[in-house]
Amino acid sequence: MLLVHLFTVLAMLLTAGVLAQLVFLGIELTQRLSLAVRQQRQDAELFALRLQTAKKRQQREVAAGSWNGVRKFKIDRVVEECEGVKSFYLVPHDQKTLPSFLPGQYLTFELDVPGQPGRVIRCYSLSDRPQPDYYRVTIKRIPAPPGQPDARPGLVSGFFHSHLKPGDILNVKAPAGGFYLDVNRSTPVVLLAGGVGLTPMVSMLNEIVTNSPGREVWLFLAVRNQAEHIMKATLDAIARDHHNVHLCVCYSRPLADDAAGRDYHHAGRINLDLLKARLPSNNFDFYLCGPGEMMSDLDASLREWGVPEKFVHMEAFGPASVKKPAPASGPAADPGTAPKVAFARSQRETGWNPQMDSLLDLALAEKVPVGYGCRAGNCGTCQTAVKSGKVKYLKEPGCEVEAGSCLICICVPDTNLVLEA
Ligand SMILES: Cc1cc2nc3c(=O)[nH]c(=O)nc-3n(C[C@H](O)[C@H](O)[C@H](O)COP(=O)(O)OP(=O)(O)OC[C@H]3O[C@@H](n4cnc5c(N)ncnc54)[C@H](O)[C@@H]3O)c2cc1C
Ligand code: FES
Repeated sequence: MLLVHLFTVLAMLLTAGVLAQLVFLGIELTQRLSLAVRQQRQDAELFALRLQTAKKRQQREVAAGSWNGVRKFKIDRVVEECEGVKSFYLVPHDQKTLPSFLPGQYLTFELDVPGQPGRVIRCYSLSDRPQPDYYRVTIKRIPAPPGQPDARPGLVSGFFHSHLKPGDILNVKAPAGGFYLDVNRSTPVVLLAGGVGLTPMVSMLNEIVTNSPGREVWLFLAVRNQAEHIMKATLDAIARDHHNVHLCVCYSRPLADDAAGRDYHHAGRINLDLLKARLPSNNFDFYLCGPGEMMSDLDASLREWGVPEKFVHMEAFGPASVKKPAPASGPAADPGTAPKVAFARSQRETGWNPQMDSLLDLALAEKVPVGYGCRAGNCGTCQTAVKSGKVKYLKEPGCEVEAGSCLICICVPDTNLVLEA
């Protein structure tokens, strides 16, 4: 009996000991877990703080040494990149510091082109990563449209190609633009370029291989054939030397001498089937720059693939590239019901023509004297006061617009309108 009691007491003591140990273990585990959670939260807060600090530093660095108005730059050298495309290396004429910029941004030029009544304004993307001593732009000569003997070739691109040479001085506005690579992130990116739309992508690519060698980047370039293959040797070398860079060059019309595998990777255009075949998923930031039709097709395809709008970034090079609202499917607008547009200073009034791209086109058709440069909502030259009525923007302005004014190159009327022009 005594033995039974002894065993019972021993068993109780043992159970109590085990229980106590379990309780201790539980407490220790909970403490460790809450410590780990706290540590994780602190790490996340620290990361967010670092990110914020890095962003602020980047903005400070980008803004440092920036300038208002125009600054004089000297053409240092000119390099031919392929048929009809040249790079211009620009150094500051005052030899002072060159401010940094965000890869993807552009420069605005105010040019004295012979035979033009005033300065002609055009934007060109910076085509290299920020360098301490030069900016680079890469310009395609725009030929006269085929079959239109009276049409003239591109004014400014022709001026750059035929007249400008090393030593010439140009008036340049500071780097600007909302289309750029977020250099504080290391998430993978896909760059989709058509022809000379490659220029901002090269800036992004060079930035990634220099400062984020672990960041995965896919570059798809669409050109017709080797004659138009901009910076071929440079792109091939970057893809060869960096395991994080995946290059896919698409020729829509290969020449007899163009070899698949050597000169290009895909015969045809960039489309959704190609993206699905080459990319491991749709989980990327996509950057698009090229002809208007290519951009709107790819934008729609990416949406169809489930890519959220905020992950699709686009740069328009010209009026044709500006996103238009879906055309009305019904009968042509009744001139009686279409909004009326009046140009107050020029004393002209007309009905809005929905076939037109923008109010700038209407003003030019009506021979209203208006200034313009980029025709894409970036340079601010076409800013016009709205005296009454409302306009609708076709895309976000790329520059600041004064209250009560609009950028007529990217606006259409929303109601009857009176413009100060
Ligand atoms: C933000 C931004 C960045 C740009 N970056 C670059 C760049 O890196 N490299 C580059 O070469 N260009 C770039 N451009 C386009 C450039 O600004 C000019 O529009 C282009 O050089 C044509 O100007 P132009 O004076 O030679 O032609 P214009 O005399 O203005 O036009 C002549 C004819 O060409 C047509 N046209 C005008 N622009 C284009 C175009 N882009 N494509 C096809 N036809 C056109 C016109 O409708 C007209 O029929 C950029 C534009 C913007 C807004
Ligand atoms: S012409 Fe440049 S913003 Fe309109």
